[in-house]
Amino acid sequence: MRVLGIETSCDETGLAIYDTQAGLLAEALHSQVDLHAAYGGVVPELASRDHIRRLLPLLEQVLAEAKLDRRDLDGIAYTAGPGLAGALMVGAAFGRSLAWALGIPALGVHHMEGHLLAPMLEPEPPAFPFIALLVSGGHTQLVDVTGVGCYRMLGESLDDAAGEAFDKTAKLLGLPYPGGPELARLAESGDPTRFRFPRPMTDRPGLDFSFSGLKTRVLTEVQKFGETMDAATRADIARGFEEAVVETLAIKCERALQEHGRTRLVIAGGVSANKRLRKDLETRLKKIGAGVFYARPALCTDNGAMIAYAGACRLAAGEQSDLDIGTRARWPLDSLPAIEPVA
Ligand code: KG4
Ligand code: ZN
Repeated sequence: MRVLGIETSCDETGLAIYDTQAGLLAEALHSQVDLHAAYGGVVPELASRDHIRRLLPLLEQVLAEAKLDRRDLDGIAYTAGPGLAGALMVGAAFGRSLAWALGIPALGVHHMEGHLLAPMLEPEPPAFPFIALLVSGGHTQLVDVTGVGCYRMLGESLDDAAGEAFDKTAKLLGLPYPGGPELARLAESGDPTRFRFPRPMTDRPGLDFSFSGLKTRVLTEVQKFGETMDAATRADIARGFEEAVVETLAIKCERALQEHGRTRLVIAGGVSANKRLRKDLETRLKKIGAGVFYARPALCTDNGAMIAYAGACRLAAGEQSDLDIGTRARWPLDSLPAIEPVA
């Protein structure tokens, strides 16, 4: 089964074609970073309009790359939520209409399920069951995963998501949008011992997170220096912040694995592209005989391939959406129906 995946939940237009036999056939992405940079963050109305402009050319691009015609598609999967309402609506209207015109099934996919399953597109995918750490701009969740659609929420952020904390802290340090990767780059040259920020909620039991206080601590440091802050201090603060977030996430991941008797951890979502997080988890989990799985960086951040894959799993199992063009800005991951994996 050949499935076209369409991602338009935020500021990237991502399209891909996944074949349940042959794997990923083509993918294309247009990032709106330049469009939103001047505003220091995503402007929803501009995002929706840009998705409209990009979808058709990107469709032609992935079809050409896969050497396929529209009529060779067997199903269409689009991100139906969570995300920006208008942006979601563009992808859903495009995907649902194209499927109707072609007489093939369409399915609205949960964006975080897309992230969660993205490591399945790698040469050595994780076997079920595993614990997943979902870390994106809008979510920080620990999930026990026993199959596609079999998700039990173990913990989540009570306030800011990890990616949001990276982005807000980057802004405090005067870094351009999108801040997460920029902050990680700056942190590379920073001294890890000069600033020690708290590891929130690690000293008490449980698997929930809280990152908003950390951002405030960084703000206090930044204000102490004011105009006199030099480049080295900025890098040291960035490093101290990154170390704090990474260690906090890693402590909770290790705790989740041990408390639930799992030996595999999957990390997914934009922040899972963070090198220090990957390295810290690898070292830490090796000591307890557990392994960590993640996707290549381009499949950690928003992309069409993860939507095509998650959609293919469900469409191949006979699931499909009706003719309504439905989206959900809020949508609990653990409310999804369970299905068997395709392969
Ligand atoms: O999954 P994603 O692309 O979009 C959402 O679904 O939100 O995640 C984007 C988030 C942003 O907050 C971005 O700053 C963060 O992931 N991010 C990173 C890195 N790359 C992306 N954070 C830390 N280190 C990175 N290398
Ligand atoms: Zn995402």
